[in-house]
Formats: sequence, structure tokens, C-alpha cells
Amino acid sequence: MKALILSGGKGTRLRPLTYSGAKQLVPVANRPILFYCIDNIAQVGIKEIGIIISPETGQEIKETVGDGSLWNVKIHYILQDTAGGLAHAVKIARDFLKDSPFVMYLGDNLIGGGIDRFLQEFEKNSPDALILLKEVEEPKNFGVAEVSQTGEIIRLIEKPDEPPSNLALIGIYIFSHNIHKAIDLIQPSKRGELEITDAIQKLIDMGLSVESFILDGWWLDTGKKDDLLTANVIVLDEWLKSDIQGTVDNESRILGRVAIGKGSVIKGSNIRGPAIIGENTVIENSFVGPYSSIGNNVKIRHSAVEHSVIMDGSELNDVERMEGSLIGRRVKLFRNKRHKALRLMVGDDSIVEV
Ligand code: TTP
Repeated sequence: MKALILSGGKGTRLRPLTYSGAKQLVPVANRPILFYCIDNIAQVGIKEIGIIISPETGQEIKETVGDGSLWNVKIHYILQDTAGGLAHAVKIARDFLKDSPFVMYLGDNLIGGGIDRFLQEFEKNSPDALILLKEVEEPKNFGVAEVSQTGEIIRLIEKPDEPPSNLALIGIYIFSHNIHKAIDLIQPSKRGELEITDAIQKLIDMGLSVESFILDGWWLDTGKKDDLLTANVIVLDEWLKSDIQGTVDNESRILGRVAIGKGSVIKGSNIRGPAIIGENTVIENSFVGPYSSIGNNVKIRHSAVEHSVIMDGSELNDVERMEGSLIGRRVKLFRNKRHKALRLMVGDDSIVEV
């Protein structure tokens, strides 16, 4: 079994953060989303992972992820010249995949729990495709599956007006080598992409077995700001362990589960967990509240922050109260007149004065 992670694409929904960086590298609890995908794949014992990258963000992804030794796996990078669709990504990965069955995993997906049971299900019947589905409230916004009593997929429909079920495709699949035959038979869709849903439909039309598996844990499509903040809450809640490596002076108080990285300094501040603070960050005379993820080299002075993500190199000065915000890298945020609460989505290299 191999794995193919799709980490190209355009990332339009997370602009402006994705003007200057890959959306799969946006941090959740101070780790890139992509790292959670690799965790799940490595955890089931898959050793060969192909990562699809785009010309725009590929280099950054390579530098951040490396050769896989962090996970004890081998990572192969596969360049996709244009975002030609999910099935196009599989097509260009053919040399890497050969005839092996593979897990296909969208690199901006975050799920609770692992993929062990999903893989075991595939190994039981060895279908040509096993599709991970999740019950959602608004199926109209997703690719939706119509499923038989026995779990076979009857058909797939992209963003249907009248959804036949509330079961959405979440972007994790396992395929046999027959998916390549199906992809060779499909044409680009109206939006000009080779769609994986069309290839799966083709497998069904060819009379091959396409089965489903329903995820009972949580799933977050981290494409949008509020989804990212929710992901941050869930991951901090479930996975954060107290770990204080930086220095905390006598005037500061740390409450609950808090992680503080090497070289960070907390002076005269209250930090209330669950919260994570990266390395070489300074927090002075401030409050950092629950569900905050503060990156590396950040400076927070005379400010109060909660339920927010602040990425590397940003600075906050005299920000009386900030919540529910997603702040990119190297952002400067400071006050020049009184204002009660801030709710912002600010991209990389921005300067905001309020
Ligand atoms: P999408 O979120 O469907 O597409 P996108 O990245 O272009 O994003 P947006 O809608 O915000 O503009 O992509 C899902 C995942 O698959 C994501 O990690 C990017 C990746 N992908 C590729 O690697 N190649 C592709 O051709 C496409 C369309 C997506």
C-alpha cells in the first residue's frame, strides 16, 4: 500500500493567507495541517508517500516536510504544473504509484482519529475504491454519495440541488490500480478539471466495486477561516499536553494545559490553556486566553488575545481584546484609539492600525 497526498491546488478560499504560502502549511495548534495527514498515513504503517506539489508552493512544502525521516517514511515529490483536478494529480503520479493500491488523501483535510479502521475495511474485501464519507448538515455544498443498504456506492453527485443523502465525500479514498483505467476514460469537466468523482463514477459504470465507509469522528475542511479556528479548538482540546520550555517570570500565571516553546519569555502575563506558544516568542503584560495558538518569534505586549491563531513573526501592541481572529505572518497590529473588540482575518505582511 502506498499513499498519495494532494498538496497542490490554488487555495483561493484561504486568501490572503495563501497568496504567499501553501494552504496545507497553515498551522493548526502550531503544526501544519499537512503534518496531521502524514501522521495518519505513517501511523498505519505506509512507508511510501507521494506528495503532489504545485510550482507556486512546492518548494515551501518540500522545505517544511523534508524527506519523511520525521515520520520514518519515504516521501517522493511529484510536480503538477497546473491545478488540473484531483484525477489529474493521480494521473501524473502513475510512475510513483505503479500498480499498487493507494490511499489518496487531500492535504488540507483534518479528521479526528486515524485511518486504521478505514484501511482494515479495504483489506477485508479489496474493492476497487473505498470512499470515506461523513454525515453533514448541508450536503448541497459537497460532493454527495448515494449509498445502497450494503454500503456500495450507487452514484456520486457534485454539490446537488436535491441531495440523495447527507453523506459527503471528505477527500480520503483508497483505490486499486483500476482507478488509472477509469481516469484514462474521463474528460475534463465544465470547470476544465479531471474530476475524481467522474473517475469513481466511471469505476461504477465499468461494474467494478466501489464501497463506502462512514467516518464517525469529526472532520474539518480547513479551507475557510472559521473552519480553521474550529480545527484549532478541537486539536488543542484533544492533543495538547502541558510542556513549558521557555521562561515564565514570577509575575506571570499559567493555568490549565499550556505549551511554551524554547527561547520564549512570558513576563507579567496570564496564560490560560489550552493554549500553545511557539519558540522565541515574547509575551509581556498580556493575557493569552483559551484556544490560542501563537507561533514562533511573535511579540504580544499589553494585549489580550483568545480563541485566535497568530502565525510566525507577528506583533501585537496594546490590543485591548482580540478574539476569533486568524493573523498571518509578520503582521503588525497596534492601537491608536479605543475600540472594544476586534474580529479580523489579516494576511501575511499586512500592517493593521485600529
Ligand atoms: P481544493 O480545495 O478542491 O482546491 P484548491 O486547492 O484549488 O482550493 P480552493 O477551493 O480554496 O481554491 O483541493 C483539495 C486539495 O487537493 C488541496 O490540498 C489542493 C489539492 N489539489 C491538488 O493537489 N491538485 C489539483 O489539481 C487540485 C484541484 C487540488
